[in-house]
Amino acid sequence: MVNVELKGLVRVFADGTSVGPIDLLVKDGELITLLGPSGAGKTTALRMIAGFIEADKGSILFNSKDVISLPARKRSVGMVFQSVALFPNMSVYQNIAFGPDMAEWPHERTVRRVEELAGLLGIQHLLDRKIDEISGGEAQRVALARALAKEPALLLLDEPLSALDPQLRERLQTEIRSIQKRVGITTIYVTHSQDEAFAISDRVAIIKDGRVVQVGIPEEIYDRPATEFVAKFLGSGNVLEGVVKETKDGKSFIDINGIVLDGREDLTVGETLRLSIKPEDITISSDMDSDSAKGRVISIIPQVGSFKITLDFQGAHVVALSQDEALVKKLREDENQTVSFSFRSEDAVILKD
Ligand SMILES: Nc1ncnc2c1ncn2[C@@H]1O[C@H](COP(=O)(O)OP(=O)(O)OP(=O)(O)O)[C@@H](O)[C@H]1O
Ligand SMILES: [Mg+2]
Repeated sequence: MVNVELKGLVRVFADGTSVGPIDLLVKDGELITLLGPSGAGKTTALRMIAGFIEADKGSILFNSKDVISLPARKRSVGMVFQSVALFPNMSVYQNIAFGPDMAEWPHERTVRRVEELAGLLGIQHLLDRKIDEISGGEAQRVALARALAKEPALLLLDEPLSALDPQLRERLQTEIRSIQKRVGITTIYVTHSQDEAFAISDRVAIIKDGRVVQVGIPEEIYDRPATEFVAKFLGSGNVLEGVVKETKDGKSFIDINGIVLDGREDLTVGETLRLSIKPEDITISSDMDSDSAKGRVISIIPQVGSFKITLDFQGAHVVALSQDEALVKKLREDENQTVSFSFRSEDAVILKD
């Protein structure tokens, strides 16, 4: 078992493109996800950890021991690659047994290990098939079994489910999580899907332009995004701009185009801030007499269990989720209606940048 610490890890490619510095601590037995857009540096980070490419700066500690000078085969890492790279001419059994065979495990031990993993992943009946005789979802399981075969201390999974249909993906997410917990293996999982990251992870690290910008348990990151990028990337954020209006008794009042928030910690009067408010924290009402803010309805999109209503609020978009079918029906009768909306001051999170 292993805990992994990345300290100031940087990779500079030949053309000058650089990824990092990456700082991250992965606890023993934890499943952490690197979540970020395409090109953020997720695969590069995994490849440096596995030892497939060299880091130009920084350190990679496994249980406080720097492994940067160890070749890949000595790091005890199992990896599932972004594009499943199974050996097409070999059987499922031979694919899973590949690592143990290379390491010259006794035949009996390899057979036991392959059977154990095949049982865990529900692919016993496929062991004699060739790779082109199994489905995509089955191939993902074989790739996972192959990565686990040599009993690695660390498992790296690079978008292992991206090619699958949503139902199968969801089922395998649950399976990967339960196998990971049963085996107790420290795991770094890469995805650019928020749903997948939230479904599978103990903690999530949001990665942007080669750096980790926020780490936390899914609820924490969703409820309290640190930056505008995180808020927007997670879709949890209406991002609105406010100005610190006045300060009284050490508390500052923020004005968002006429919406004044309850006193916050001391801020500088005149300072401009960005705030994130989640759609589910915004309440819409057709009561125009209230002194709540007013917005013009731009669109109404039905979703599972609610309607996503987008308002124009003085040039800014405000997205709200509503379950009020009567209200939605009324709003749909004629377009461009104006409604009142409100949210609790404490649900507005001040963003760092
Ligand atoms: N061999 C290379 N030479 C030059 N630049 C590279 C090389 N490999 C990756 N990059 C660049 O490094 C950055 C990070 O790439 P990386 O593959 O790590 O992104 P990613 O987060 O895995 O993206 P995706 O979600 O699309 O897989 C990108 O800008 C990419 O173009
Ligand atoms: Mg990638």
